Amino acid sequence: MTSNGFKLEPRSTADGSFSLFSPEFGEAFHSSRGALTEAREKFVEPAGLERFAKGSSLRVLDICVGTGCNTAALIEGCISHDLSLDWWGLELDREPLAQALASPAFCGQWQPGTLAQLQELCSGPGMRWGDARQTVQPLLKQRQGQFDLLLMDAFSPSRCPQLWSVEFLGALGSLLQPKGLLLTYCSAAAVRQALRLAGLELAAIEAPCGLQQHQQDWSGGTAASPCPIPPGPRLRPLTPMEEEHLLTNAAEPYRDPGFSLDRKTILQRRQQAQAKAMQEGNVEGTSAWRRRWGLAGNHQ
Ligand SMILES: C[S@@+](CC[C@H](N)C(=O)[O-])C[C@H]1O[C@@H](n2cnc3c(N)ncnc32)[C@H](O)[C@@H]1O
Repeated sequence: MTSNGFKLEPRSTADGSFSLFSPEFGEAFHSSRGALTEAREKFVEPAGLERFAKGSSLRVLDICVGTGCNTAALIEGCISHDLSLDWWGLELDREPLAQALASPAFCGQWQPGTLAQLQELCSGPGMRWGDARQTVQPLLKQRQGQFDLLLMDAFSPSRCPQLWSVEFLGALGSLLQPKGLLLTYCSAAAVRQALRLAGLELAAIEAPCGLQQHQQDWSGGTAASPCPIPPGPRLRPLTPMEEEHLLTNAAEPYRDPGFSLDRKTILQRRQQAQAKAMQEGNVEGTSAWRRRWGLAGNHQ
């Protein structure tokens, strides 16, 4: 049971790796393509581990540790690049990690030694349990400008807007060293706009192989950094279509000035701001943008 009394449901994903579904948030922990595939394609490969000198230590913050899949995949990436980790993790609930570690499927998907390192990190001083908006506060006081990588893997903005607000993303951005990278699977205009409002430069994570032909799957996620991001493994500049997306109504960001609002209030206030901007004729509706670019689906 989660801390709110919900039962997480184990799910197997297309690559055979272990995942969970949260009835509380009404969303799966990972894409149906596969938890491990997603961890590698959206977090480990775009991190560009080859950029770092062999033998060096990466300062990493995993936001929404969940089952630990992203951190475990990063541990394996670091081993193959001769890097060590100075790791921090934020997570509300102990249950996803407990269920993963009790699952033979999860335990069987890693190289020898990875699980032991994951368990050591998650039971060590870097692991902060609780609402990430609060547990990030000591890092904001002590570690500004020091992180090489932020792995941002909250549930989607409509399910968990608390962790996609201008204020929270801005706080995360302040933790990055000048060439540090925040990486997320999310390509939502509101999230990209919030990262830009925080003064960060943006790049897109390339869509997984084979998905680009469906135009609605234009991107595999977003990278953000205090400095311009050179094209790299899986990273490319935003296209004109993506730039225009940030001028539409979908780019109205989520706001949570005191780090204390609930989901419903954040969503309601954003809807009100969107309606006002449309009434005043300040922005284009997202559907017009979709039509212009021949897109199907509903990317908010
Ligand atoms: C999409 S899942 C993360 C998946 C994870 N990275 C993995 O590889 O398993 C989202 C996670 O966010 C956690 N979460 C939800 N609200 C949170 C909050 N306010 N602060 C911290 N964690 C939160 C959930 O418990 C869940 O584990």
